[in-house]
Amino acid sequence: MDLPTMEDSKIIFALDVYDRDTGIELAKNLADQVFAIKVNWPIILENGIKIISELSKYSKIICDFKLADVENTDKLITEKVAQYGAWGIISHAFTGIKSLRAVVKSAGQMKVFSVVSMSQESYIDNVYDKLVDDSLKAGVFGLVAPANRPDRLKKIRDISGDIKIIAPGVGAQGGNIISAIMAGADYIIIGRSIYDSPDPIGAIKKFNDEATKL
Ligand code: C5P
Repeated sequence: MDLPTMEDSKIIFALDVYDRDTGIELAKNLADQVFAIKVNWPIILENGIKIISELSKYSKIICDFKLADVENTDKLITEKVAQYGAWGIISHAFTGIKSLRAVVKSAGQMKVFSVVSMSQESYIDNVYDKLVDDSLKAGVFGLVAPANRPDRLKKIRDISGDIKIIAPGVGAQGGNIISAIMAGADYIIIGRSIYDSPDPIGAIKKFNDEATKL
């Protein structure tokens, strides 16, 4: 399927809204400016899983469900998300390699990203190297690491080879695009600074310009 998505954009738009019409409108208007759109629980809880198929008409959709369960439950969720046409899914890594492998195996064509560090301090900070190691062994497509903690991001890049890293934390959480890309992020996840802006298209254009300056 031909999507209007801009393959050379480094921005993944975090569509963290509840309302269906607002979500569809934003997706329609912004799809040709972003690499992908990430959805989280808010829009799914309000509208049901079918919203993934609706949004997939406009852009690649990454489901940020941060899977964190035993193998079988993670597998059941992953298979269901794949049925609705998501391009990617995000899993936690701290539940261990067995769960990660189950997600990768049941993802089919979907790309699997695993969280190896949060954009805020958390208990997984102490084990990020093990989480990277397990993620690489499990064969995930990419990692999620914090854009607003560039030192941490750089450490993760240094031990991850050239695997894709998607990084949240720019704008509302204090990070900036340039330092995140310099620390090793391939794509930057941005939510509030876009959807809360009076001019979301202008906001994305600004972020795209900044990202391509490097
Ligand atoms: O609004 P903001 O730009 O802070 O949105 C960041 C997005 O990235 C949210 O959807 C949030 O759930 C997600 N995320 C994050 N930190 C992580 C993993 C995901 O902020 N470690």
